[in-house]
Amino acid sequence: MLDAIINDVQTKPPTYSFQETLVAAEQVNWRIEDIIGDDKSLDFGKPFLPESLARVKELTFLNPDDKRILNQIRAHAYLCIFGLVEEFILPFVLDHVRPLLNTDDYRVRAFLQFASEEAKHIQLVKRFSEEFQKGFGSECAVIGPPTQIAEAVLAHQPLAVALAILHIEWMTQRHYIESVKGNRMMDAQFKSLLKNHWLEEAQHAKLDTVMVEALADGMSRKAIERAVDEYLEIVGFLDAGLKQQTLFDLEAFERATGRKLSDGERESFIFVQHQANRWTYLGTGMTHPKFAETLGKLGLEFRTRVEEIAPAYC
Ligand SMILES: [Fe+2]
Ligand SMILES: [Fe+2]
Repeated sequence: MLDAIINDVQTKPPTYSFQETLVAAEQVNWRIEDIIGDDKSLDFGKPFLPESLARVKELTFLNPDDKRILNQIRAHAYLCIFGLVEEFILPFVLDHVRPLLNTDDYRVRAFLQFASEEAKHIQLVKRFSEEFQKGFGSECAVIGPPTQIAEAVLAHQPLAVALAILHIEWMTQRHYIESVKGNRMMDAQFKSLLKNHWLEEAQHAKLDTVMVEALADGMSRKAIERAVDEYLEIVGFLDAGLKQQTLFDLEAFERATGRKLSDGERESFIFVQHQANRWTYLGTGMTHPKFAETLGKLGLEFRTRVEEIAPAYC
């Protein structure tokens, strides 16, 4: 596998330029202290997530305050789930760059910058989560622990993991561009977090594209097919986690509001919110045009396969 990566470096031009990606990353690079702390605090009177991801309006048995509280619970889980996926992205990127240290300097620096930014994002998410818990006032459980989830994901073959990471990076781009940018309802502090994350993730999406291309180079059709199967296994694994997260969110909602939902309301809550979670973390990545484009380059049948499955997660 490593030989395949190194051959690719020497013989095939990547879709994106490492030098340009590195320059863009260096221009964006922000400090955690500039985003959170001092007078920069969360306003719990406002929603934190865009409605297209939260989908709380569909729950017509909730009053406006209930909907805002549920939106905030979902936003806290969103933060923590990002931290959680970044905990498997970081070691994967480091493992990818290690055998490439004696190749293109810009490539090495671009991937190290990528890894360093993910480490920073993990820390940023922890800071926001602490801030959230202080202001929200009751417990919101989140799936994990991150190390166990990382271990399960990283047990898959590299191309499958790289596809899952590419999906996540494009998904982040889509969340900001389609739902957060221009949103006037959301809390400004949470919006700033998502904006700054989006700015750095733009380079990650490009580097992940190149990583997928490098890993797939030299692999047979059959081997790529197995990797796509494993990518879909990762999707299924994450989906099971999202079902559990929906149950945690229901508990957190009842705890925070003191409301006890009826059996019918609980059923509706779980159905709508599980699907909202699926769309947030799975559907928005699986149906992203850039993700589909990369899959299509590996083989049209792989793109079609994912496109056929994706509606279940939308
Ligand atoms: Fe990140
Ligand atoms: Fe990233």
